[in-house]
Amino acid sequence: MNSNSAPIGIFDSGYGGLTVFREIEKLLPQYDYLYLGDNARAPYGPRSFETIYQYTWQAVQWFFRKGCPLVILACNTASAKALRNIQQLDLPKTDDPSRRVLGVIRPTTEVLGQYTQSGKVGVLGTAGTIRSESYPTELKKYWPEVQVYQQACPLWVPLIEGGEHHAPGADYFVKKYLGQLFAQDQGIDALLLGCTHYPLMLDKLREHIPAGVCLVVQGEIVAKSLVDYLARHPGMESRLSKGGEHRFCTTDNAADFERQAGFFLGREIEASTVQL
Ligand code: SIN
Repeated sequence: MNSNSAPIGIFDSGYGGLTVFREIEKLLPQYDYLYLGDNARAPYGPRSFETIYQYTWQAVQWFFRKGCPLVILACNTASAKALRNIQQLDLPKTDDPSRRVLGVIRPTTEVLGQYTQSGKVGVLGTAGTIRSESYPTELKKYWPEVQVYQQACPLWVPLIEGGEHHAPGADYFVKKYLGQLFAQDQGIDALLLGCTHYPLMLDKLREHIPAGVCLVVQGEIVAKSLVDYLARHPGMESRLSKGGEHRFCTTDNAADFERQAGFFLGREIEASTVQL
């Protein structure tokens, strides 16, 4: 990627954003992308509002220094806890206020009501996302008649970041949180994976989700919403460089990132370690 390139930045606390990146690159292969996983400080889920906001804003500024005019927070916890402050307070003060930062919660809630017949939706997320009440609040704007049942799954991200999510022991924690969610109401018929890490253990989740429950995964939803956003914002679209190049960065060990990301994306990738 040369110094004049203007890639789309994709940010996550770790590997989870790859589940969004994979869908975005399918629909929009022409653009350059710069992915950053803050693996050294993952998981974000149990951290305070102030810490998540500080880490996320630091990452966003890093993307801006790398020339990204548009950054996607492909992380529910960062979207829930930091996006509003960044959009409303920080961006207007930067040297280029026309840069944009988008999240994953709004595009998801815009369509989530389409997936339920019973009007009862379950949301699984990190402790931070669930505590923020972002999903019930946003969903009310678009689907006021839909009831939301939330369940925090604090141990799923550490399992995934530690590469233990396919291990037999992971079943215990999958069953535990799903059991707690469905104990709230058996009528839930649509289940949102409200953390971009969770699709990395989709097979394991499918084994334990009750029959007839529709599983909603965010990657494709966010990718379609980005297509729509770029069509509605030709000024931003024209600023993005179109070389089809991908660069992956992590704040932790590059070899670990290459292995995990390569496994998930189904191809070898090169990663570099960066400091924010
Ligand atoms: C985490 O780092 O705890 C997961 C972030 C997310 O919500 O996607």
